[in-house]
Amino acid sequence: MEIKAEVREFYDIDVEALVIAIFEGENTDQGFLKELDERSGKLLGQIIGSEEMRGRPSDIVFLHQPGNIRSKRLLLVGAGKAASFSVDSVSRYAGTAARFLRSKGVRSMALVRRSNLDLASGAQAAVEGVLMGLFEPDQYKTSEREDRQIDRLVLVASEAASEDIINRAISRGRIIGEAVNFARGLSNEPSCILTPSELANRAHQTAEQFGLAIDVLDEAKMKELGMGALLGVSRGSDEPCKLVVLRYNGAPGGATAEPVAIVGKGITFDSGGISIKPADGMERMKYDMSGAAATLAVMRAIAQLKPSVNIIGLMPTSENMPSGHAYKPGDVLRAMSGKTIEVINTDAEGRLILADAISYARKLGATRIIDLATLTGAVSIALGSVYAAILGNDQILIDEVRKAADAAGERIWQLPMDEPYRDLIKSDIADIKNSGGRYAGTITAAYFLREFAESTPWAHLDIAGTAWESDKKPHTAKGPTGMAIRTLIKFVCGESKN
Ligand code: BES
Ligand code: MN
Ligand code: ZN
Repeated sequence: MEIKAEVREFYDIDVEALVIAIFEGENTDQGFLKELDERSGKLLGQIIGSEEMRGRPSDIVFLHQPGNIRSKRLLLVGAGKAASFSVDSVSRYAGTAARFLRSKGVRSMALVRRSNLDLASGAQAAVEGVLMGLFEPDQYKTSEREDRQIDRLVLVASEAASEDIINRAISRGRIIGEAVNFARGLSNEPSCILTPSELANRAHQTAEQFGLAIDVLDEAKMKELGMGALLGVSRGSDEPCKLVVLRYNGAPGGATAEPVAIVGKGITFDSGGISIKPADGMERMKYDMSGAAATLAVMRAIAQLKPSVNIIGLMPTSENMPSGHAYKPGDVLRAMSGKTIEVINTDAEGRLILADAISYARKLGATRIIDLATLTGAVSIALGSVYAAILGNDQILIDEVRKAADAAGERIWQLPMDEPYRDLIKSDIADIKNSGGRYAGTITAAYFLREFAESTPWAHLDIAGTAWESDKKPHTAKGPTGMAIRTLIKFVCGESKN
C-alpha cells in the first residue's frame, strides 16, 4: 500500500473516498464541518444530528457524489466524544473506515485530521489502524477470500511545515502496523504448520531479513544447561522444543551495555497435556504462542526503528501434549536455576517454559526482564477481554510499561503481588508447585515466575484475555489481535531517550 501525506485542502484530494470523523454532539454551524456542509449542498447538516449519525463510534454514513469536492465519495465515521479522543480511538476509527471502504471495493482513501492530538501520534495511530484494520486471517481459504485491496492511503495535512513530521510518523506507523500483522499471522497458523521448529525457522527468516543476531538452543544444549522445566513440558510431544534468542544491539556502549530482555511464551499448541483440556474451544490453543509472536514482532520492528538500546528477545517454544512420554501430575522437575518444581497440573505449562527462559535471560546479563504470555484463563475472569494484566517485582519498571501502554493506546491494568499470595504455591515436597488452584490464578502464576526473576527487575504481562478477539468488530477481524506489541515497542523506544 502506498501511504503518504498531502498538504492540500480536503476538497482537493484525489482519492475515491474521503473519510471524515464526526464527534458526538457536533453540528455544522462553524469551522470545518460548516465548510464541508456548504460544499455538500447542505447535505451534511441534514445527516449530522439525525439518528443515522450521532457521532457514536458505531455510526457510519457513506455518500456518493457529495457535491463540490474532488473525491467522489464521502465516508462519515462516528468518533465518539471529542474530549475522550485518544490514539486508540484514532486507530479504531481509521481501521473501521478502511475495512468498510474495502468491503465496498474502494481502492484509495484519505483521512482528514480532525483531532487535536499531537500530529505525529495521530498520524502514526491512523496508519497503524488502517493496516491492522485490513488484516484478514483467511490465508487457508480457497474460496470467499478477501481479494479486494486498498492500495493508496493519504493523510491530509493543512500546515505545510507538517509534511516531514507526518512522513516520519507514517513510516513508524507502517513498521509497527506491519509488525503487529506479522504476529497475528503467526498466531493464526495452525499447530500442524507452526511447530516449535517452524517458529524457530520463521525467527531465522526474520533475523536475516531485518538484520538481527539469532541463536537457537536445541534440546541437547538445553540439557547441558539443565533446563528441566522447559524440557519437562516438551516431553509429551514428538516435536522437539527450542529456545530462540534474538539480539538487537543499538546501545552506544556496544553489545555489553545493559540489555533489556523480552521473553514470550511460545506454546504452539496447548492441549493441557495429561491434565487435558475439554474439547470445547481447544482449537483456539494454537494461539498459545502469541507472547512469542509478539516478541518476534517487537524485535522485527526495532530492527527497523533502530533505537539506541540493547534488546534480547527470547522465545521458549514447545508443544504441550499428552503421551506415554509426557510429564505427569506429581512429577518433580529441576529448573535451570536449581529450583525444584512439583507439577500439580500439566496444563500450567506456560510458567514452566518461561521459568527457564527467564533464568537464561539473567545468565545472558539482562538487567531488566519483561515477559508476556497467554498464561491464565483467570485473567479473563478478572479483567475480561478489555485489559491485559501486568504484575512484577519492580514498580518503576511496571509504571514505565504502563505509561508506554497509555501512549500506545493499549489497556493494561496492574494486579497486586503481596507476599501472602506466595503461600498458595508452596509445595509439600519441592521448592514450589506449578499451580495454586482456582483462586487468584493470574497472581499465583506471576508469583511462580517471580521466583525465577529473583533479584532482576521484572514485569509480566498476561495477555490470555486480550490476544484473541472472538467477536466481529467494525475496526478489526476476528482472531489474533497482536496485543502488547505496540506497548513494548513504545517502551523500548522510550528507553533510548533516558
Ligand atoms: N494457555 C493456557 C491459558 C489460557 C486459558 C489461555 C484459556 C487462553 C484461554 C494456560 O497454559 C493454562 O492452561 N492455564 C491454566 C492454569 C491452571 C491449570 C493453573 C488455566 O488458566 O486454567
Ligand atoms: Mn495450559
Ligand atoms: Zn498454555
